[in-house]
Amino acid sequence: MQRIAVLTSGGDAPGMNAAIRAVVRSADARGVQVYGVQRGFEGLIEGRLSYLSARRVSGILHLGGTMLGSARSDRFLTIEGRAQATEHLQEQEIEGIVVIGGDGSFRGAQALSKESGIAVVGVPGTIDNDISGCDYTLGFDTAVNTALEAIDRLRDTAASHQRAFFIEVMGRSSGWIALYSAIAGGATDVLVPERPTDIDVLVDRIRQAFELGKQYCLIVVAEGDDAGGAYEVARRAGEGVRELDHRVTTLGHVQRGGPPTMRDRILAARLGDAAVTALMDGDDRVMVGEVHRDVIRTPLERSWIVTDKMPDELLDLMDRLAR
Ligand code: F6P
Repeated sequence: MQRIAVLTSGGDAPGMNAAIRAVVRSADARGVQVYGVQRGFEGLIEGRLSYLSARRVSGILHLGGTMLGSARSDRFLTIEGRAQATEHLQEQEIEGIVVIGGDGSFRGAQALSKESGIAVVGVPGTIDNDISGCDYTLGFDTAVNTALEAIDRLRDTAASHQRAFFIEVMGRSSGWIALYSAIAGGATDVLVPERPTDIDVLVDRIRQAFELGKQYCLIVVAEGDDAGGAYEVARRAGEGVRELDHRVTTLGHVQRGGPPTMRDRILAARLGDAAVTALMDGDDRVMVGEVHRDVIRTPLERSWIVTDKMPDELLDLMDRLAR
């Protein structure tokens, strides 16, 4: 293999730049050229590819976002869109692509590989941590630490005013950021899409907390929770607990930015390098992921077919410690 491409797709995640750097440097060390694609699959359709030298990726390791840009491409969902992308890849004699993104991006990559014969390898990059075949996705650790810093700050003001805070974190269909930041932040309760929300139970929990002498309550709500988000949860809880002094904070996209943590940088280095190795080995339609400290390859389609269950053990732990 002489020439490969790398792109980032879907929601950006801290550590994507570190992964791009790892792909470029790892390929360069093996005499393989890397072309960067601007704005994900959308840029591939438009032929926005350019050579990335080892020097071109200097000074990006510690930066959030993605130097290549990202996009959610509707055109790439069509066979015509993918045919245009294939033409551009063939013009540049690209033999393999590293796709850094989530399961939606991997679906597109799989279709492209089947139709074009060009090998694809996925690197799980999303703050949501909702991809099977890896312990953690790239960006998750940074996003949780960002949420945690906010929770720690909110605790200060919550305690000063004896208030309940409802804190909404990201995760349209996944509660991992919510669960981890709630455990690490000592929250009173966590609401996640993976478990039905019962407002009466939450109301009891808040009431009990104040009766037990707590001075404040922190309730972490994943944006995809079935109760309709932190504002709605707060409104309903406020009806249940009389004179509940409360405030709502939505953290939003602040969780997607910022410098990657050490963990995300190491993960990016390992997975970027492993993706190049997989392509060199002649592998295709696989995702590289870290499981129990080993880097393994799993079929790309596992990412959208299998959804790992949120461990009851962690949800129970959260409940046990919130008293
Ligand atoms: O990257 C994943 C994610 O952050 C989800 O948690 C969130 O719901 C979504 O992206 C937001 O996407 P957008 O940037 O398109 O608003």
